[in-house]
Amino acid sequence: MTRLPKIDLVSIEDLELPEIERIFALADGFAAALDRGETLSAANGLVMATLFYEPSTRTRLSFESAMHRLGGAVISSADMNASSAAKGESLADTARIVSAYADLIVLRHPHDGAARVAADYAACPIINAGDGSREHPTQTLCDLFILRRKKGKLKGLTVALCGDLKFGRTVHSLIYALARFGANILAVPTAGMDVPDYVLARLAAERHYSFSTVTMDELKTLAGGLDALYLTPSAPHQMALFTGDVPLDKIPAAEPPASLDAFYVTRLQKERIAATQPRPGEYVRFDARALKGHRAQEAVVMHPLPRTGELAYELDSDPRAVYFEQAAAGVPVRMAIIAWLLEHKRDAHRVSPAAAETARITAEPAPRCANANCITRFEGAYLHPRFKLARAADRGLLALRCDFCERELRVEFVGHARSHRYYRYDENLYGYVHNWIAEGSLAVFDSVKQAEENGYEPYKRGPQREVMNDAEIATAVESLADQVIADVQDLTNVSIVGVVSHGAMLAVRIRDQIAAKSGVRPPAAALDVYNPGATVVALDGGDAFAVQDRALVIVDDVINSGWTVQRAMNALWQRGRPATVKLAVLIDRGHRALPIRPNYVGKSIPTSRTDRVQVRLAPPDSGLKHHAHDRVMIYSMLEAAKSPQDAR
Ligand code: NCD
Repeated sequence: MTRLPKIDLVSIEDLELPEIERIFALADGFAAALDRGETLSAANGLVMATLFYEPSTRTRLSFESAMHRLGGAVISSADMNASSAAKGESLADTARIVSAYADLIVLRHPHDGAARVAADYAACPIINAGDGSREHPTQTLCDLFILRRKKGKLKGLTVALCGDLKFGRTVHSLIYALARFGANILAVPTAGMDVPDYVLARLAAERHYSFSTVTMDELKTLAGGLDALYLTPSAPHQMALFTGDVPLDKIPAAEPPASLDAFYVTRLQKERIAATQPRPGEYVRFDARALKGHRAQEAVVMHPLPRTGELAYELDSDPRAVYFEQAAAGVPVRMAIIAWLLEHKRDAHRVSPAAAETARITAEPAPRCANANCITRFEGAYLHPRFKLARAADRGLLALRCDFCERELRVEFVGHARSHRYYRYDENLYGYVHNWIAEGSLAVFDSVKQAEENGYEPYKRGPQREVMNDAEIATAVESLADQVIADVQDLTNVSIVGVVSHGAMLAVRIRDQIAAKSGVRPPAAALDVYNPGATVVALDGGDAFAVQDRALVIVDDVINSGWTVQRAMNALWQRGRPATVKLAVLIDRGHRALPIRPNYVGKSIPTSRTDRVQVRLAPPDSGLKHHAHDRVMIYSMLEAAKSPQDAR
């Protein structure tokens, strides 16, 4: 029977900020006690088990040292490949059994979400010492402990995260924590190793926080000062801009950061790059030059270690190199975590808020997590898929977030298991799908074929009516072109980018109208916000589409919640800093989750939330004259889940 409360530390988000502060205060005390050579006994009689399915030096040894220093004992399987895991024992069974031998389990595992599974099955608390590429919360506590000690605070600091930000789990936990402490983040990923979308989505949804990304090339200019490094407009929190009903054209000009307070450098997590994937070419290498820029003179250089070439040894003697202090902090900080657990009543039980709001999906076919490294892919014999409904796309895809690894799954077709009807997912179904998950009747399909093969029939949509015909659409497009011409000072600086697919088709039409009316033909591009990496394709062939210093006009067919536009802006800012950004929409439905106002509107069509507005445009290569088949239709989805079939 465990002597500690069942409080798991799976994500850094499991700790409230005052709790992190408390852990730091305890760690300060332990660091001083260790300096004085005191012998401590707070954990007398406690047993900690370290289960490491991956290599470790610092994390395991500092946890074990911490437990010993507190007078507790440690049991360990030196190599999990020598444990029953090698015989095929499940993680759930291992966690359950070891929790009968220990009061606390520290777990490191190669699969994303493993610590969540262990926490569900172990009677004792689980501390995540790294799960795949997801999180490493106790490393973050060490990182912040040292950063705060060096800088005296965390709020308002600017931290540049450099290297492999995709698979670096220490980086992900650090980002969540820096966001909450009100620090600014500047991401400097090695090409192709950007902070993953699911991390950005979580930050945006839960913290209304985002940050900018600069290239390695921009970072290289550090030697000559940091003037070339720019935070996104409205640093620190780009998202904050859009919560005060600020029109898009009022975005302040980009400001360079006043100073950089820390570089957090990471190694390439090469063990997580599939053999089939290309290795990134150039990797960041930090040497003494990095600290010469006048804005970086006070910056500390951090690294979770081990280093593999990205930090020159010549830096070690510089007082600003603090990575060995981060590693040394492992003992007092981990002592503090154990002591903090001991401060709680033994019967305290904490259900992580993340786990509380999720639902198992039991209907068949159940969705499978899209992440090939998700623990559910390896322990499927007993793990039911568990997802949260994510409020992400408003473009006909259902976004489910895996409760174990947090990766999003985009689903186009959903079914109701009792009525055996399937639907092409639509934002208006969001509320119903919520209920279907709760009642265990959500099925998901990759295709109509899959739905029909599973015995589902299509659900007929409600009566539809036309709200715009081809002539009205043409008039609206012309009006949009007129609005742009009247509003923009210098048409030669305008670039038009349409959101795939209808926004991109409209972008071309608006651009052609502008050309016909003014003689200036702005470059146009298509932005695919749902493509991983959000691709931008120039529509005129030839040159890449430039964003830097341009007067950008983003085009979309319908603005409803505003999330798509938000996504589009984030994607564009990764490519450069436009001079201005304006938004043109064919239809403004008048609803907003985000206070983003379009600058140019073809037609305002106030609609009810349960209406579906569908724009149909003839593709440019269809050969149809005058776009005779263009239509905007509206139909109600209200009946969908209220229909007699669904009630059966
Ligand atoms: C890190 C890890 O394992 O994620 N190491 C650590 O715990 N200090 C970083 C790494 O391996 O690169």
